[in-house]
Amino acid sequence: MQARRSVAEALPYPSLPRARKSKIRMDLNESAWGCSPKVLEAIRNVDSREVSAYPDYQDFAERIAIHFQISPENIVITNGADDGIRAVMQTYIEDGDQALMMEPSFGMIPIQAKVMGAEVHSILYQSNFSFPIDQFLEAINADVRVIALVRPDSPTGTVISQSDVIHILRAAPESIILLDETYHHFIKETCIDLIKEFHNLVVLQSFSKAYGLAGLRLGFVASYEKNIQQLNKVNPPFATNTVAIKAGLAAMSDSHHLKRIIEEMEYEKAFLVEELTRMGLEVRNTRANFVLLRVGAQADVIHQELVEKNILVKNLNRLPLLNGHFRVSISTRNENEMFLQALREVLP
Ligand SMILES: Cc1ncc(COP(=O)(O)O)c(C=O)c1O
Repeated sequence: MQARRSVAEALPYPSLPRARKSKIRMDLNESAWGCSPKVLEAIRNVDSREVSAYPDYQDFAERIAIHFQISPENIVITNGADDGIRAVMQTYIEDGDQALMMEPSFGMIPIQAKVMGAEVHSILYQSNFSFPIDQFLEAINADVRVIALVRPDSPTGTVISQSDVIHILRAAPESIILLDETYHHFIKETCIDLIKEFHNLVVLQSFSKAYGLAGLRLGFVASYEKNIQQLNKVNPPFATNTVAIKAGLAAMSDSHHLKRIIEEMEYEKAFLVEELTRMGLEVRNTRANFVLLRVGAQADVIHQELVEKNILVKNLNRLPLLNGHFRVSISTRNENEMFLQALREVLP
């Protein structure tokens, strides 16, 4: 059976390595430190009636609303930020609309835009990965329906300034600005507050990274109430599950754990950057939980050799500006050392 034309023509998300569980996983920016013990306790306390009931998102939406000083009416709970991206594209894009975004950036954004029939227009980061604000503003026109920004971005690590976000919000009052804040904990900044002033802003957050809940699939979308009403028509009424919600509440209650994990990640990032630099490699630090490493023309071969040693990093060799680069997620000291050792063995 033929899929919809826009689906058949979209490229799939690159396939993920199998059996990741037994490997050193420095490829998907997960938390190597796991989740808060309070999360595990909350999961253990889920009872049979809670499992047999459909999930109730009210408490969780209220908790998020209090945390960010917005209203529960400004929130939709999603099955991870990926699901939020899908919901936004599905809600706002009509066949042939333009979607404007950065390149290289998070791969699911152009896929979901194209699946909905958008014509994707990508602007390249500058060669030092800074945000080309003038060029971006010039690309905005009346046909641009959705503008996607990721802050901080992955894989480049670029953090577009808040003032540039505001420039874009003002320059495109008729477009939806999707701001993906999946990595916001690491920069200790969010633009959620701007939803009060800008009704064209949709902010996406995730519990997969700093909170360490990637396996549970939890995120949310925050926006102007009327946008949320539209998104709620597209999002399934039970987008995620009760266990994820309980875990999310527990994760938010343990700010001490969150702070400790981020500090440890920063400490290990500094260690990794220092060691890689000492090996004579070009490393680009970021403010998120990964670094970029240039290994050169042999990137594909080196990547494969690392996989054979059960070390997973993200090979960015096919991406513009990132030929010969890997994205390396920060892990625990033990795993970072195993990665460094394997790298020493496979580098030409
Ligand atoms: C920029 C960005 N957005 C969204 C996601 C997906 O997050 P989630 O696990 O919440 O679906 C990722 C995952 O790596 C990401 O890097």
